[in-house]
Amino acid sequence: MSSVAGFSFARSAQPLRRRPWLSVGAAIGLLAMWGALGIAAEGNPGRGMPDEAIDRGRYLVVVGGCNECHTPGYVEAGGDLPESAWLTGSAVGWQGGWGTTYPVNLRLFFSGLTEDGWVMYARNVVTRPPMGWFVLNALTESDARAMYRFVKALGPAGDPTPAYVPPGAPVDTPVIRFPEGPPPPP
Ligand code: HEC
Repeated sequence: MSSVAGFSFARSAQPLRRRPWLSVGAAIGLLAMWGALGIAAEGNPGRGMPDEAIDRGRYLVVVGGCNECHTPGYVEAGGDLPESAWLTGSAVGWQGGWGTTYPVNLRLFFSGLTEDGWVMYARNVVTRPPMGWFVLNALTESDARAMYRFVKALGPAGDPTPAYVPPGAPVDTPVIRFPEGPPPPP
């Protein structure tokens, strides 16, 4: 098993072989479908929502480390950035055997998503590295809902993040380069 910077490739490679990556495009398509089927009963995100759920969501985002990748400058600021700047996505790519990935603008991502859609998504999503998709899979339903309510309450902000770039293709943003890892899964 090769382990780089705390990421265990051998462990993460296993589920990737069983489950194809859910591409951003496919995810958006699926979510649109859930919305169209009316599975989500969302309405006003503030309606009937206890404040504790938002507080819990904020707590989960903080201790889940989501800002460390999805909020530009958060680590450099020692975590001292206003919530208005949180989760707006980063145009610094993470580059390795999987290609180059960008921490998605979650403020926009959540704004296009229903709460029930997020619960389904979080339960099933598999992304490319270095996103710990398995963390999302492990959320309890109530914690997934709390996380949604917090990010939804922040509202949409920022610009879309650059799209995924496959291995070997040119990249025109700064990148954080990982040491050679395993080749991308089939
Ligand atoms: C180590 C950096 C890192 C951390 C920490 C991290 N992410 Fe990510 N996240 C990424 C990257 C990079 C992507 C893009 C992955 C891809 O393109 O397949 C991503 C993708 C996602 C997506 C997929 C969006 C889409 O368009 O399908 C969601 C949702 C997400 N992250 C939520 C979170 C949440 C919630 C947390 C905290 C629990 C978190 N992330 C922590 C780096 C990170």
